Amino acid sequence: MIEVKNLIKSFDENEIVKNVSTTFVKGKTNLIIGQSGSGKTVLLKCLLGLYAPDSGEIIYDGVSNKMMNDSNKTLLRREMGMVFQGSALFDSMTVLENVQFPLTMLTEKGDDEIRQRAEIAIQRVELEKDYKKLPSELSGGMQKRVAIARAIVMNPKYLFCDEPNSGLDPKTAIIIDKLIQEITKEFNITTIINSHDMNSVMEIGEKILFLVNGEKNWEGTNKEIFKTDNQSISDFVYSSELLKKVKKYL
Ligand SMILES: Nc1ncnc2c1ncn2[C@@H]1O[C@H](COP(=O)(O)OP(=O)(O)OP(=O)(O)O)[C@@H](O)[C@H]1O
Ligand SMILES: [Mg+2]
Repeated sequence: MIEVKNLIKSFDENEIVKNVSTTFVKGKTNLIIGQSGSGKTVLLKCLLGLYAPDSGEIIYDGVSNKMMNDSNKTLLRREMGMVFQGSALFDSMTVLENVQFPLTMLTEKGDDEIRQRAEIAIQRVELEKDYKKLPSELSGGMQKRVAIARAIVMNPKYLFCDEPNSGLDPKTAIIIDKLIQEITKEFNITTIINSHDMNSVMEIGEKILFLVNGEKNWEGTNKEIFKTDNQSISDFVYSSELLKKVKKYL
């Protein structure tokens, strides 16, 4: 579980994340949603420790960022997996080498164990037939699956995904969402996903934080969205034409 208390992050004079407090639940897919520029990536990068907040607190399973020294922070980083927009794979490395990379870089494990653990992660995303291929030989959805395998190979407690299904067709996007959700449950990970995809909201929005201009405007579950009288979240969700149609049948 990650608790966020009164988090503020500015760049120069611009306050981007504005006094956000929330909780991201363990074993669930937590979504941060909001318009482009609403501060989703900046918030995620604060949670990842890539940006230092101006003020506020982030508590990782009971341990506050304020109590951590540099070596605590390094250890925490090893408990985090990341899937970024565009997969960010190494082009010159095979699937297997990409997935092995965090283990090679960050652990002292021997070659056999590294290979074994990478193979388990690759099997989990069903790419065992493709482990020798280069990213350029894979489809977009397969590349995302490699990125997911690489993110889980270190057995993370926390998984951060920034727009994991961007650039995918809707059907593949749902497959990737579902895969992330299954892995989250299987390994009891606290998963946080930035998204502006309404399919994701409906399919895997077990906990949703809705940001408007860097502020928390609404939070709840995907089911609660249908019942809320909060106009901003309703407008945001129902601005999708498909959902307007769906709502007529509810
Ligand atoms: N490193 C930075 N320095 C200065 N301003 C930044 C920096 N990173 C982000 N911003 C600003 O913070 C605001 C929020 O950006 P952010 O990337 O978090 O939006 P977002 O919600 O992730 O949008 P999108 O859906 O397009 O990815 C934007 O106005 C952006 O210009
Ligand atoms: Mg973003």
